[in-house]
Amino acid sequence: MTLWGGRFIHESDAFFKKFNKSLTFDYILVKEDIKASISWSQALMKSNILTSDEQNIIESALLVLLREIQDDTKIILNTSYEDVHSWVEASLIKKIGKLGKKLHTGRSRNDQITTDLKLWCKNKIYLLLENIIELQKNFIVIAEANEHVIMPGYTHLQRAQPITFAYWCLAYVEMLKRDFSRLKDVLKRLNISPLGSGALSGTAWNIDRKKLALSMGFASATNNALDSVSDRDYIVEILSVSSIGMMHLSRFSEDLIFFNSGEANFIELSDSITSGSSLMPQKKNPDGLELIRAKCGRVYGSLFSILTVLKSLPLSYNKDMQEDKECLFDAIETWNNCLFMAILVLKNIKIKHISCRQAAEKGYSNATEVADYLVKKGVAFREAHDITGRLVLHAISRKQSLSSLQLSTFQIYSNLIEDDIYQHITLEACLNKRCSQGGVAPKQTSQAIMKEKKRLNII
Ligand code: ARG
Repeated sequence: MTLWGGRFIHESDAFFKKFNKSLTFDYILVKEDIKASISWSQALMKSNILTSDEQNIIESALLVLLREIQDDTKIILNTSYEDVHSWVEASLIKKIGKLGKKLHTGRSRNDQITTDLKLWCKNKIYLLLENIIELQKNFIVIAEANEHVIMPGYTHLQRAQPITFAYWCLAYVEMLKRDFSRLKDVLKRLNISPLGSGALSGTAWNIDRKKLALSMGFASATNNALDSVSDRDYIVEILSVSSIGMMHLSRFSEDLIFFNSGEANFIELSDSITSGSSLMPQKKNPDGLELIRAKCGRVYGSLFSILTVLKSLPLSYNKDMQEDKECLFDAIETWNNCLFMAILVLKNIKIKHISCRQAAEKGYSNATEVADYLVKKGVAFREAHDITGRLVLHAISRKQSLSSLQLSTFQIYSNLIEDDIYQHITLEACLNKRCSQGGVAPKQTSQAIMKEKKRLNII
């Protein structure tokens, strides 16, 4: 049964029917479709298109329908309807007969679908926001427990300067704060109702669109129907924010995969999120993290998919836009799952304090301090850099660390170096000096942790 049979003489080709059908994936929107239909019926009543008795019957039947699919929306998949809108309308007609046929007055599937989608996106965004907060909380718990764990910080994947494990956690909290604020920002532009836009030029009935919008939880109604049924910017925005969020999670995964490697040995991932090898009995592989790292790709793919669908698409609605859904649904589910996986990883992580510190002690990550020491003695930084570079070369050739060099060796390269050099180049000294805003100094870090705990309400 189609919604548009009257004008057609011949049956649809079976393959076309299947090709055209969106019920297989838009069934996900059934609750939103029913809720928006109830609001629409109320608007029709306020405009005297339905009597209050008629509206009552329609609303009650829609509520029954909602209850019927509440626990398992998939039951509607066994039907042959083209899309979720057809299914809801046909099911209503089955329940209350002819009266059900009045519901579509002044409405089009074009304004319906984008209303349903926006309602769905809103719910999913709230869920994502919650998960982002939860992940931040987990980072803060780890940060607080590892405030004084010194490890190497890297540039070019070469040991660069010492940092703390807490500081590394706080870096990801910052990224997640930006993801959160970007998502909230999307919500502002998305929270505007397109219902009552009709097919493309507005509805011919006297509908109070503002009230209708408010009744569905939107902040306002859209300004231009032609734009409203064509607009999928909010999907592009969500997918671009999701891509950035996933990019952050992929970097988090990569960092931890490396920290967990035999080479770094800074952390141990729990058995609960790793898997073994079918052949090599010693293996414990970071599959959870590797999958997060890889799933970033499919979210980027979704973004490119929607951008390409919309490119050069003439106004207003075109069936091309049916292709906006699977990529959206998949990307949001993927991001949510990856946030959840990241939380699981952190909940069970073990930090190996000693090997973190040992690694920070190797790799000359205190070389900058030697240069800064010389600067304090009046040497120009560029020159101090050069002297220190030669000292590092010397130490490398003798397989020594800078702090194990004799004072007399330091003095070969600069007679300005005195006995106090040693206290300037301890790992603690390296950290403590960086106490300006955003620096790694433990004082700064613990203040940052306190601030985040307050913000996240975990005190
Ligand atoms: N299944 C369609 C979609 O996802 C719903 C809107 C159909 N509108 C139409 N004029 N055929 O975009």
